[in-house]
Amino acid sequence: MGENRFRGRSLAVINDFSLEERLYLFEKTKELKSLFREGKKEELKRFRIDDSDFGVYEVFLESSTRTKESFKNAAEFHRIKISNLDVGASSINKKESYADTFNTLAGYNNLVFIVRSKLEGVCRWMEINGKAFAERNNLAVPPSFINAGDGKHEHPTQELLDEYTFLERNNWNRDSIHLALIGDLYHGRTVHSKVQGLKIFNSVQVDLIAPPELALPSHYTREMKANGYKVRTFDSIETYLRQNKIADKWYFTRPQLERMGDDILKIADSLRAKISFRQEFMQYLPEGTIFYHPLPRHKEHPTIPTFLDSTSLNGWEEQSINGKLIRIVLLGLTAGKLGDDFRGESEGGKHPDEPFIEEVAIDNNRSVKKYTEGVNPISHGIVIDHICRGEDKKEIRAHIGRIIRVMELYGKGGEWITTSRENPDATKGIIFRPDREALTCSQINKLAAIAPGATVNIIADSKVIKKLRLHMPSRVYNLDSISCKNNNCISHPAHGENIPAEFLKISENTFVCRYCEKVHTFKEIWK
Ligand code: NCD
Repeated sequence: MGENRFRGRSLAVINDFSLEERLYLFEKTKELKSLFREGKKEELKRFRIDDSDFGVYEVFLESSTRTKESFKNAAEFHRIKISNLDVGASSINKKESYADTFNTLAGYNNLVFIVRSKLEGVCRWMEINGKAFAERNNLAVPPSFINAGDGKHEHPTQELLDEYTFLERNNWNRDSIHLALIGDLYHGRTVHSKVQGLKIFNSVQVDLIAPPELALPSHYTREMKANGYKVRTFDSIETYLRQNKIADKWYFTRPQLERMGDDILKIADSLRAKISFRQEFMQYLPEGTIFYHPLPRHKEHPTIPTFLDSTSLNGWEEQSINGKLIRIVLLGLTAGKLGDDFRGESEGGKHPDEPFIEEVAIDNNRSVKKYTEGVNPISHGIVIDHICRGEDKKEIRAHIGRIIRVMELYGKGGEWITTSRENPDATKGIIFRPDREALTCSQINKLAAIAPGATVNIIADSKVIKKLRLHMPSRVYNLDSISCKNNNCISHPAHGENIPAEFLKISENTFVCRYCEKVHTFKEIWK
C-alpha cells in the first residue's frame, strides 16, 4: 500500500491541492452524500475517523456561522475531539505570538487546526512553524492548518464546496463554466480563491460585476487571464443586463462594510444598489439560471432578495448544505482515514529553485576591458555593471542607493550613470569599489536579488578574473533587509511575530510574499 498523500497536509490556499486531488475529494463527497441520502448508516462507517483522541481545534479570530459550525458538525460525524479556542480570553491578548499559541495546542495532541483570521498568510506560516515544532518534539505527524478565511486573501474550503456545487449542477461535466461574480470582489476572499480554483473547468468565462470601489484587485484579473479565462467587467447588474451574453451561474457576495473606511460607508446605499438583484431583472435571466452565495446575507439589505428563496434560482441552500459534506471528507483526508487509494498528481505547492548566477567566460584573447576609478584604472576590487539597464536615470540613481545600503558598500570608490558601449541609448548604473575583497557566495546571492540583470566583475592585477551575470532568483529569503509590504500580512514587522520574510518569483519582475501572496516588484521587497 502506498503512502497516504493527504495525511498531515495543510490547506492555506486552494492551489495547495492539485486539480486531481480536488477531483478525488469531490468523488468521495459525492459518495458520502448519496450514503447520507439513502440512509446507509453502516456504509458511512468507512468515512469515519472514529478516534476520540484525534483532536481538531477551531481558532476563529473573526466571526463565522457556516464555516465554523460545519467543521464542528463534520468533526461530530467523525466522533473525534473538537475544541474551540476562546480567543477573547486567550493569551493572544497578552501579546503571545501565534506560533507560541498554536505550538501549545499542538503539544496537547491536536492534529488539525481550522483557522480564521483578519491577518493574511497565517496558515502558511503555521504550517512551516508546526513542522519545526513537531520535529523538535518528536511528534509523529506535524499538525495540519486549514485556512477558514484569512483577511481578504483566500477561503479555500469555501472554494472546494463552491466547485463541488457547480459541478454537481453541471452533472459533473467539467467542459465549461460561465460565471458572474457579483458584489464585493475587492474584499471577497471566496472570490479570490476562484482565480485559481476555476481551473477545474476546461473553459472559463467570468463576468465581474462590481462598482469601481469594490472591483477585483487588478493582479487577480491578470491571473485569471493568464489562466486562459475570458474576463469581462461591468459596474452594475443593470449594465450587465444591457448586453445579451448573460451567465447562467451567478455568484453573489456581500459588501464587507466592516473592512471599509468611513468614506466608502457614506456611499454604502448606492454601492448596494449596483450589486443587489431586483424583481424587474427576472425577465432577462437565461433559462436554468442559478444563484449562489457563500452567505451570510444581510437581513435588511440582502443582495439576493428573500422572495427568490422559493424559486428555482435558489442554489445557495444546497451550496451551504454541501459545506458540511466537503469538510467531513477534508478532515477524513487530513487524518489519513481516506485517500489511501489516490493515485493522481499532487503537484500543489512546489516552487522549483532555478539557478540565478551565471559565470560568464572571459575571453583573454580580446583586449581586456579596463574599468577606471575616476581617472585611474582599477587594479583590484569589484565593479557592478549594467545596473537597471534601460531604466529611467532617476530610477537608476535611487536603486544604486538601495544597493549600496543593502550590500553595505560604503567603502572607497564611486558610482555613476552611463550608457552601454554597444547601445548608446541604454542607460545603466555602475558601482566601483576598488580594493574591495571579492564577495562571498551569500553576498552574491543577495546582490542577485537586489540587482538582477547586473554583472559583477572581480578584478585582480588590473584584469577581470571573474565575471558573473546575475539573474532574478526564484526565491528571496534569509535576508533581514526584506519585508512584505502588506500591512495585513502575518509576516509584516508591525505585528511583531518575528517571521522571516520570503518571496517567490512568479514572473520576471514579480514576486509574491510566501505567506499572504501579495504581489511585489523586486524593488518593493526591500525595506
Ligand atoms: C464568507 C467569509 O467569511 O469569507 N462567508 C463564508 O465563510 N461562508 C463571506 C462573507 O463574510 O461575506
